[in-house]
Amino acid sequence: MKDILQELESRRASARQGGGPARAAAQHAKGKLTARERIELLLDEESFEEFDMFVAHRCTDFGMEQNRPAGDGVVTGWGTINGRMVYVFSQDFTVLGGSVSATHAQKICKIMDMAIQNGAPVIGINDSGGARIQEGVDSLAGYGEVFQRNILASGVVPQISLIMGPCAGGAVYSPAMTDFIFMVKDTSYMFVTGPDVVKTVTNEVVTAEELGGASTHTRKSSVADGAYENDVEALAEARRLFDFLPLNNRDRAPVRPFFDDPARVESSLDTLIPDNPNLPYDMKELILKVADEGDFLEIQKDFAGNIITGFIRIEGQSVGVVANQPMVLAGCLDIDASRKAARFVRFCDAFEIPILTLVDVPGFLPGTGQEYGGVIKHGAKLLFAYGEATVPKVTVITRKAYGGAYDVMSSKHLRGDFNYAWPTAQIAVMGAKGATEILYRSELGDPGKIAARTRDYEGRFANPFVAAERGFIDEVIMPHSTRRRVARAFASLRNKKLTNPWKKHDNIPL
Ligand code: HXC
Repeated sequence: MKDILQELESRRASARQGGGPARAAAQHAKGKLTARERIELLLDEESFEEFDMFVAHRCTDFGMEQNRPAGDGVVTGWGTINGRMVYVFSQDFTVLGGSVSATHAQKICKIMDMAIQNGAPVIGINDSGGARIQEGVDSLAGYGEVFQRNILASGVVPQISLIMGPCAGGAVYSPAMTDFIFMVKDTSYMFVTGPDVVKTVTNEVVTAEELGGASTHTRKSSVADGAYENDVEALAEARRLFDFLPLNNRDRAPVRPFFDDPARVESSLDTLIPDNPNLPYDMKELILKVADEGDFLEIQKDFAGNIITGFIRIEGQSVGVVANQPMVLAGCLDIDASRKAARFVRFCDAFEIPILTLVDVPGFLPGTGQEYGGVIKHGAKLLFAYGEATVPKVTVITRKAYGGAYDVMSSKHLRGDFNYAWPTAQIAVMGAKGATEILYRSELGDPGKIAARTRDYEGRFANPFVAAERGFIDEVIMPHSTRRRVARAFASLRNKKLTNPWKKHDNIPL
């Protein structure tokens, strides 16, 4: 009996070695952790329960029967993050380059199936040379099975991808279908075709980092949601994100203890809006002052800075924030901002996370670049996302809410539950100058007359009261009491029930 126990221990020890100390050292030399070290940092201490430690591939081509490492290049299982359950897979680059065989894929599928069945999120740590070349189509089939599960899990359990090494070719499509992608600067990349193929086909010379590194995907393509200095930081931020999310679509996000008075008065907000309506101010200041303990986890912070998305807590409850940022492009909506915010709103709605919308929007960005790029369809994504969302929606208009953008930004007409405005709000079809120049074109030669018309327009429309008279704004509130008002609004909506008409699924403009 003792021998048998020893045999188990020795098999375990060998499996835990992965590709062995030399390959682990090579991984460290690149600034990367090993698959198991990553799991240790991601999960609560001693909480990891492994599956399929002894699974080995069944390939007999290219002499592979001589090389059958236990675990087959991926560590899978479940554990907890701050006591809440999560399924994890972590590709082991030290074993056959973390390449995906049929059995490697089966291991991932097993934990994904369990995650869907048992209602817990999946976090995938990607560090792989891609399809195991020796296995050919068996590997592609394995990827296909993973893709299918990503799709079925979408909107059922949160899925988070951490890219911590290579992720290339069709392999990118699994993370691409998850809810959030975090990348590590300089050691990770994602691309459909690598620099060599790019050179052959398009004659462009580009490095892997330029083509698909963390800064490319967080600044240019928006494929990734966050870029971090190293594995440790990325894993810590994944834990932080996880804490904002429910375990599944039938669960509520966890309520955390809070030590911040929900009625906290912020007098500084009374002077946040500059006297000159064309001057910017930092909308993040308002977000931080509304949030419990000023804690804000920003999503896609380096992309489309004219809109801010991320998570805060109010009275300990997770809230998704969408806010126009007057500091970038005057806070206008464009293709990138619309796409970014639409996806975020849909994530929040899928997982029952209430949405706070802070509005200061002068309209949609004009130009051929925008029109040719399809701003009509992209803007419609955000409109659609807000309109279909049934979660509690609280909106605060701080300054401009002009034109179609007024409707889009979680207006009353899109089933906003609480639509507040600060006294500085201007809710109108457009700004005063533009409006008078259209209405009084014949007087354009007379600056005095136009100035008087502009003043008149401002007096009548550059305020929240016309909208408030019609009930489109529920209340004009003091800036300093925004946190209290918003907290009470969300508290009153905790039992909100709203359902959309039955449909197979909608046809959001993609
Ligand atoms: C089998 C692989 C492998 C793969 C790496 N290895 N990728 N084995 N299948 N796809 C092995 C290497 O042979 C090597 O084994 C070990 O892993 C480490 O690889 P190195 O090349 O030494 O590491 P490095 O120099 O860091 O380069 C990493 C790399 C490179 C850039 C990822 O290995 C590479 O280009 N691999 C091939 C990538 C690729 O073309 N994959 C298929 C893409 S198509 P030894 O024993 O020698 O140390 C694809 C489609 C997915 O993935 C489709 C989904 C639908």
